[in-house]
Amino acid sequence: MRIAVFAGDGIGPEVTREAVRVLKALDLPGLDLVEGDVGGMAWRKHGHPLPQATLDIAHSADAILFGAVGDFSCDHLERHLRPEQAVLGLRKELGLFANLRPARVFAGLEGHSALRPEVAGAIDLLIVRELNGDVYFGEKGIETLPDGGRRGWDMMSYTDAEVRRIAHVGFKAAQGRNGKLCSVDKANVLETSQVWRDTVIEVSAQYPDVELTHMYVDNAAMQLVKNPGAFDVIVTGNLFGDILSDQASMCVGSIGLLASASMAEGTKGLYEPIHGSAPDIAGQDKANPMATILSVAMLLRHSFGREAEAQRIEAAVAQALADGVFGGDLGGTFGTAAIGDAVLERL
Ligand code: NAI
Ligand code: MG
Repeated sequence: MRIAVFAGDGIGPEVTREAVRVLKALDLPGLDLVEGDVGGMAWRKHGHPLPQATLDIAHSADAILFGAVGDFSCDHLERHLRPEQAVLGLRKELGLFANLRPARVFAGLEGHSALRPEVAGAIDLLIVRELNGDVYFGEKGIETLPDGGRRGWDMMSYTDAEVRRIAHVGFKAAQGRNGKLCSVDKANVLETSQVWRDTVIEVSAQYPDVELTHMYVDNAAMQLVKNPGAFDVIVTGNLFGDILSDQASMCVGSIGLLASASMAEGTKGLYEPIHGSAPDIAGQDKANPMATILSVAMLLRHSFGREAEAQRIEAAVAQALADGVFGGDLGGTFGTAAIGDAVLERL
C-alpha cells in the first residue's frame, strides 16, 4: 500500500495532516506513505510546481492523497509554472480519466443545504464524470466571417472506446452501492450522445445486476433539484459532468465536506477534497479536514478494495457531525486538529 501524500499549499498541509492521522490509525498492513512537493511550495523549493521527483513518486505509488494547491504569491508566474499546473499535470501524466464525486447529506446537516431539508436529506449519490474527452479536448477555433462577425467552435466527440471505459467505472460503482445507474446524455439531438447511449447499453449486458436508466441532461439538472434522492450513480460526459457535479455537490451544504477521486485504468487514483488552498483561513486552524478525511475513505475503497475501512471512516465522520462537531464552515467553533481528534475518537 504505497501511498503518495502531496499536501501542497495553504490549508492543504493542515487538512492532509488530519487525514493521514486517520489513515495511520487503521493500522493497515504494508502501509507506506511517501511525501512529495506540489504547487507553490514546490515552485519555491525546486522552481517547478510538479518537479520530476514528485512525478516519480506518483508513478511508483498505488494511490495519491492530494491536499490543495494555489498560492497568490505565484500570480506573476507564467501559466506553466503556476501551482494549479500540478493537478493538471498529474491528471495528464497518470491518465486519470474518471472523476468520481459523491454527494450525500449527513444527518443533522439538512438545514445547511440550499434545498428544502426533506429534499436534501434524501441525497446520497455519486457522479462519475469522464475527464479526458468531449468538447474540452476536441478541435476548436475562432474565425472572422466575411461580414466581420466572429464564429467560435469546439468539437464535441466521444469514441465508443472512451465511453466503454467510463461506463465500466459507472457500472462497477453502482454494483458497490444501490445497483442503479443513470446515464445522462442529450441523445435526442447530439450524435455524440447516440454513440454514448448505444455504448452504455452494450456495456450494460455485462452488468445484469445493475438497473440502467437514461436521462437527458436538461431533465437531469431539473431532477437533481426536484428529486435528488432518486439517484444512485450518474455516469456522464466531461461537459455535462462538470456542470452537474458542481450542482449536486452544492446541494449538500459545505465545501469542507466534499471528497473526490480521479481514476486511471485499473485501480490507481488521485484523491482530494474539492476545495482549494483557502488562503483566507490558512495557518489558523480553521479549515475543516473532513473532506480530506472522506477522500481517504474513497482511496481505500477505490484503490485498495477496502470497503469495510472506508465505511468505518465515513461512519466516524457522520457520527462526529451528528454530535455537533462543526467547523467554521458549518457555523461551529471546532478547529482543524479538534475535528481530527473527534473523528479519531469515533473511529
Ligand atoms: P477555495 O476552495 O480555496 O476557498 C473558497 C472558500 O471556501 C474560502 O472562503 C475558504 O475559506 C472556504 N473553504 C475552502 N475549504 C474549506 C475548508 N476545508 N474548511 C473551511 N472553509 C473552507 O477556493 P478559492 O478561494 O477560489 O481558491 C483559493 C486557491 O485555491 C486558488 O489559488 C485556486 O486556484 C486554488 N484551488 C485549488 C484547487 C485544487 O487544488 N484542486 C481547487 C480549487 C481552487
Ligand atoms: Mg467545474
